[in-house]
This record gives sequence, structure tokens and C-alpha cells, in this order.
Amino acid sequence: MMRTESAHEPWPPQPLLVAENPCPVAFRVGAVDSRGAASRRIPGIGCDNAWLPYYRLVANQLEFTAELSDYVRTVSLREDQVLRELREETAQYPAGRAMQVLAEEGQFLAMLVGLCEARTVLEIGTFTGYSTLCMARALPAGGRVVTCDISDKWPAIGAEFWRRAGVLDRIDPRVGDAADTLTALLAELGPDSVDLAFIDADKTNYLTYYERTLPLVRPGGLIVVDNTLLSGQVIDAAATSPEVQAIREFNAFLRDDDRVELSMLMMADGITLARRKSTGVSAR
Ligand SMILES: C[S@@+](CC[C@H](N)C(=O)[O-])C[C@H]1O[C@@H](n2cnc3c(N)ncnc32)[C@H](O)[C@@H]1O
Repeated sequence: MMRTESAHEPWPPQPLLVAENPCPVAFRVGAVDSRGAASRRIPGIGCDNAWLPYYRLVANQLEFTAELSDYVRTVSLREDQVLRELREETAQYPAGRAMQVLAEEGQFLAMLVGLCEARTVLEIGTFTGYSTLCMARALPAGGRVVTCDISDKWPAIGAEFWRRAGVLDRIDPRVGDAADTLTALLAELGPDSVDLAFIDADKTNYLTYYERTLPLVRPGGLIVVDNTLLSGQVIDAAATSPEVQAIREFNAFLRDDDRVELSMLMMADGITLARRKSTGVSAR
């Protein structure tokens, strides 16, 4: 929406209420809540909340209801039969639905693979291979997805669907702890060998995966990280699980990581895009 500044309405809108004593190491939620909710502090996240009224105004332009999500799927989703059947098969397993990327996220990943003109894709967290399949199909002939999982049970389920989709030969599954697999891959493939990486495994190790992935990714290449809003728990002070704490620390780390360009999307469960800059990359 186009907005113009007027004498009555400065743009961007000025904060209605500036938080008292903004804490440099805390994100305060609710200090300007219209219902007068008490501030909640999220340790480890540095953010001045003076802009919260503005963010609320913008957020209110669009409320992400189930009906709106359904509309978006109706007019943009192109999930075909093999993907749909893989989704249905996966849903039979406990937590199958929760683990798998949403169909629209899979479609988005495929578009990113195309935009990067990727030939080599690295995935951390195969599960039953829905995202693997989406990305493999977007590759040109001769391209490949190296996909890592700690278990061989899940990729084995996906393999039948990869075969049916005609991309089995583009997918290179690696079984083992991804931290070790990534170290081995750097020796095997060499630095700067990956065009796009997708991180979607155990949340507590995201920082390790990111650090070991970054040297593998070519300058200008993309790291896509899933679940960086963790069902909104990142701003819930009552949420203190190791997973949510790890994601908060990871997000705060990325904010300050000048080795990458950064963008965070409020799509699915939160998707972060970190694009490796041309210079200055070394493992930390
Ligand atoms: C959220 S699922 C991945 C979903 C997948 N991207 C999809 O769309 O279907 C996370 C996967 O990470 C795997 N995983 C968990 N810990 C791991 C580790 N230490 N190393 C490698 N994979 C791990 C799990 O076995 C699980 O299959």
C-alpha cells in the first residue's frame, strides 16, 4: 500500500509511547499494549521497543487468519499428486505433519533454488523428503541435493516418492549426525561448493549447522533456515525450552553476523534468509 506523509500523519508514524528504561539486552513486549498488558522481557534479545506501536499498526493491516491462509493456498499452491501423496503418507507417522514443511514453503524453496540458479543444494534435516523433493525438482539436469538426516528410516520413505517423481538420481542422502556430516562435506566437496542450503533439523544445534554450512556456501549463495519463529514462542517469556532459547540466540547471532545479508520472513513457522557476502567469510 502506498502511503504519503501529511501534516496530520507523519510517516512513518511516531511511537505513541516510548518504553521507559529500554533495556539493551531485553526485548520488551506489551509495554504499549492497548490492553495495558505488563511488559515481558525476553533475555538475550536486544531491541528497543519504541517502534512497537508502528509495528502493531502495520501488523494490523493484515491478520493471518486460517481463512486467509486457505485463500493463499487456493490461489497459489501447485502441489501435485506425488507431493500430495508424500504428505499423506507422512501424516500417518506421529508428528509427521508437524515435522514436514508446509506445501507453500516447499513451493517457495523450489522458487529459491531457481532464483539462485542452484546446481548444488545442501539440506540439513531430510525427514521423509518433502522439501528435498521440491528442491530436487527445481534443479537443472546434473544438479543434486545432498540431504542429511540422523536416521535412515525417514529418507527411505521419501526415496519411493523421489523415484516416482523422476529425481531419485539427483538426491544424495547422508545419514549421521549433521554436525559430523557437514565437517566431512567440507573436506569432500570443498569450500564455496553449495549454491543453496536449507537448515531444518534439531533446533538446539542450529548455530553449529549454520557455522559449518557457511564455508560450504559460495559467495552470493543462500542459507535458508526454517522455524525461526518457533510457533511464536520466541516472544513468549514463559517459553524457556532449550529449543526456544537456542532459536532466540541463533536469531540474535544472525542479526549481528556481517558475513551475510539477512532477511526474516513471517511465512510458515518463520523463515530466515542469510545470503553469504562476497568477502570476509571464515568459520568462527
Ligand atoms: C523438521 S524435520 C525435517 C523436515 C523436512 N525438511 C521436510 O520438509 O519433510 C527434522 C529432521 O532432522 C533430523 N535430525 C534431528 N537431529 C539431527 C541431527 N543431529 N543430525 C541430522 N539430522 C537430525 C530428524 O531425524 C528429522 O528427520
